Amino acid sequence: MSRPLIVDSVAALRAQIRDWRRDGLSLAMVPTMGALHDGHVSLIGVALEKADRCVVSIFVNPTQFAPSEDLDKYPRQLARDLDRLAETGAQLTFTPGVAEMYPAGFATRISVGGPAAGLESDFRPTFFDGVATVVAKLFLQASPDCAVFGEKDYQQLCVVRQLCRDLDLPVEIIGAPTVRDAHGLAMSSRNAYLSEAELEVARQLNAILRRTAAALAAGADEGSATAEASRALVKAGFDKIDYVAARESLTLAPWRRTRDGRLLAAAWLGKTRLIDNVEVPSA
Ligand code: PAF
Repeated sequence: MSRPLIVDSVAALRAQIRDWRRDGLSLAMVPTMGALHDGHVSLIGVALEKADRCVVSIFVNPTQFAPSEDLDKYPRQLARDLDRLAETGAQLTFTPGVAEMYPAGFATRISVGGPAAGLESDFRPTFFDGVATVVAKLFLQASPDCAVFGEKDYQQLCVVRQLCRDLDLPVEIIGAPTVRDAHGLAMSSRNAYLSEAELEVARQLNAILRRTAAALAAGADEGSATAEASRALVKAGFDKIDYVAARESLTLAPWRRTRDGRLLAAAWLGKTRLIDNVEVPSA
């Protein structure tokens, strides 16, 4: 496969997309922050099944990081990402700089409610405003027919769906299944921060969540089951648990047994924060 075209300005992005539109081609977008891994490659595969052309954006978005977070050390490896993209069949890479996305004087921020409330927002209160703002900009810049997001960031997926519904952004949002290593660890760019010993611990997160979801589906009390999951995570070696919580899968409202649910968790290993989620089938 050949390397995708690379553009770093909105004008060049729009010019290329205009040519494709003139030829009647459909377009899918995969927004990323780079440090591409098998999870991203699978999103691009889904995108290319849905549309004639795929644009992958690579932009480490400063507005979704709090001052105390890892913006400076977030992995940036554009040359490797471009090699990786050459294997995927994606036709266009959009790599804007911060000044292109947020020129001097930029003063707008989108704030999403609904599924953005609680969970991640309890610990990262400005995160989803930053995500919603950059995703809305990317959609307005590229005007894709659809965009693919990983279920690994499940709350983000729900927030982006809400954003498109509320702002009438005509982009179909497709959720793609989480890609995991052989031990169940969800692929994440932040896994690069983990030492070998931490990786061993991290690999237990999904097993503990699956066990807890099975207990919930079998009728276990929600409070006891999630408290037990937190204890199990600490026993496995996690340093701090931000949350383990069951929610309704579509709205992220409190879970009712008669509705499909999602069990979501965030936990710390040293300085690395990991998130994961699994389905909880309805009764
Ligand atoms: O999931 C991510 O990598 C980011 O939050 C996204 C959607 C690319 C927005 O910066």
